[in-house]
Formats: sequence, C-alpha cells, structure tokens
Amino acid sequence: MKKDFITIKDLSRDEIKKIFKLASKVKEAPKKFSDKLRGKALGLVFQKPSNRTRVSFEIGMYRLGGYCIYLGPDDIKLGAREATKDIAKTLSRYLDGIAARTYSHQDIIDLVRNSTIPVINALSDLLHPCQALADIFTIKEKLKRSKNIKIAFIGDGNNVLHSLLYCCAKSGINLSISTPKGYEPDGDILYEAKKEAENNRVSIAIEEDIKKCIQGADIIYTDVWASMGKESEKEKRLKDFEGFQINPKLLEDAKPDYLIMHCLPAHRGEEITDEVIDGPHSIVFDQAENRMHVQNALLLMLLK
Ligand code: CP
Ligand code: NVA
Repeated sequence: MKKDFITIKDLSRDEIKKIFKLASKVKEAPKKFSDKLRGKALGLVFQKPSNRTRVSFEIGMYRLGGYCIYLGPDDIKLGAREATKDIAKTLSRYLDGIAARTYSHQDIIDLVRNSTIPVINALSDLLHPCQALADIFTIKEKLKRSKNIKIAFIGDGNNVLHSLLYCCAKSGINLSISTPKGYEPDGDILYEAKKEAENNRVSIAIEEDIKKCIQGADIIYTDVWASMGKESEKEKRLKDFEGFQINPKLLEDAKPDYLIMHCLPAHRGEEITDEVIDGPHSIVFDQAENRMHVQNALLLMLLK
C-alpha cells in the first residue's frame, strides 16, 4: 500500500479487501486493537466543517490508543497564514499522520508532496475516498454478498460520486448514475472507472431516465445538491435538480428490498424526504458508523 491515502484509484482490489477484512475485525473486537496505535498522533487539518469525519477520526484514534489533534480553519489557515509546504514540513516533525479536508484537491497533493508522514484525504472538492470505502464496506455487510450488486446514484456528480466510481469499479459493483444535465461526474474519472469496471465485468453507466436508473438497484444513493463551497449556487441548483429528489413516489418502482444510502449531512426536503431517510429501507446511520471502523483499519495500516 502507498504511504498516503488520497484516492481509491491508488488501491488494488486486494488492498481494498484487506482494508475491509481488518475493518470487520476492528468492528467485531475493538478491545483487541485498543493499544495498537499507542504513542501515535494524527493531525486533522480541516478547512471545512465536519461531523462524521472529524468525530470518527478523533474517537477512532482514541479507541486505538493514539492521540488526535484538530486543526480547524481558524488554526492553521492553510496557504494563508503560511505556505502549505511549510505546514506539511512542520507537522511532519510532530505527528505520525495527517488527515486533511480541503477545498482544492491540489492542497491535498501539496501536503502529500511535502510531508514525510502519511496523508489521508478526508474530503476535497474532487474526492471523498474514506466515505466510499465505508460505503462499499457497508453494502457488502448488509447484502452479505460481493457479486451482482447494483447501486443507483441520483444527484450531483460530485466528490462522493467520484470516489464511489473508483470503489465500485475496483470492487466489481454495477453503478448506474442519474444527474441533471451539466452536473455529470468528471469525464476523466468516469472514463477510468468505466475501463476498470469492464475489466471486472461490471457496468458503470450514465442513465438519463431516473426510473430506469433505480430499476433493479439494491442501493439507492444520494448526496446534497450543493456541496460545501457551492452554497452560493444553491438557488440555481434547487431548480436544476428538480425531479431528482428521492421520495416515496420515485421509489414506487424500486425493487422491494432496496436500501437507501446518503453520506450525510442530508438537506432534508431537498435531495431526500424525511419519510425516505427515516424509513425502514434507510441504512444511513450504519453507513455513518462504519466510517470509523473502516478508517481505523486504514489508520492501523498506514500509521503502524
Ligand atoms: N459524510 C461526511 O464526511 O460527513 P461530515 O462532513 O460530517 O464529516
Ligand atoms: N458532497 C458533500 C459531501 C459531504 C460529506 C460535500 O462536499 O459537501
């Protein structure tokens, strides 16, 4: 495995399996791992707000016997108070790892280039790899199978979808995507994921008809329409995404045992309704919990 975890593109299928295997062990018997990162310190360099990612990394490190320090937007001021490379070089002298949440993906790359310690991408505008790993782990845990799985992603072609694209392609999961025009995922990522999916004999496809997109899907996945940093586009997006809400009407034709996923935070009443996210098909909080178990496996592999 590489020193850093920036994108699922860098992981092999076997490495993903290894992470999931360890995550299951950590989830099953956390006490066995309570000492494994004793003396290790992780820095959270966050430019954006966070609930799940921050808390799961902080409590994850605590449960593994290590220490975590949160460096929020007003502490470090990445690139504003001092150059990103100076931050990376300084933190490398104190810490054993950095988990960074940034606006620009380039900031993550700059941290990686200038750090001597592992850097984990805790969300950038381009990718959210920790999320996608936990998502696929959750899906396999719930469905209890690894083959013949279909995810329908409805909504914005954003960071969460980009990482899901890589993770589905590598893990052999079919992915059908429905977005409004102009909100498709990045063309290069889509191309790369499609090629890898073909090698693994699964399909990744953009589907204009939402009903067709969710037809036969085991998982129906959505995310906010205006991600962090896109708040000023909210009004325009609310109009552009009309018809892309996950609501009971849309789900009438879904397969009977479909599951609902959302990385959270959700904008209830926009991309998803209360009935759906609070309903019996929703697994969004199991998904949130698994962020910690999967990240703990990652931390054990990268920081040990
Ligand atoms: N899903 C996720 O990353 O949530 P937070 O933004 O709350 O960390
Ligand atoms: N796409 C969302 C994900 C939040 C976890 C965002 O970037 O804001």
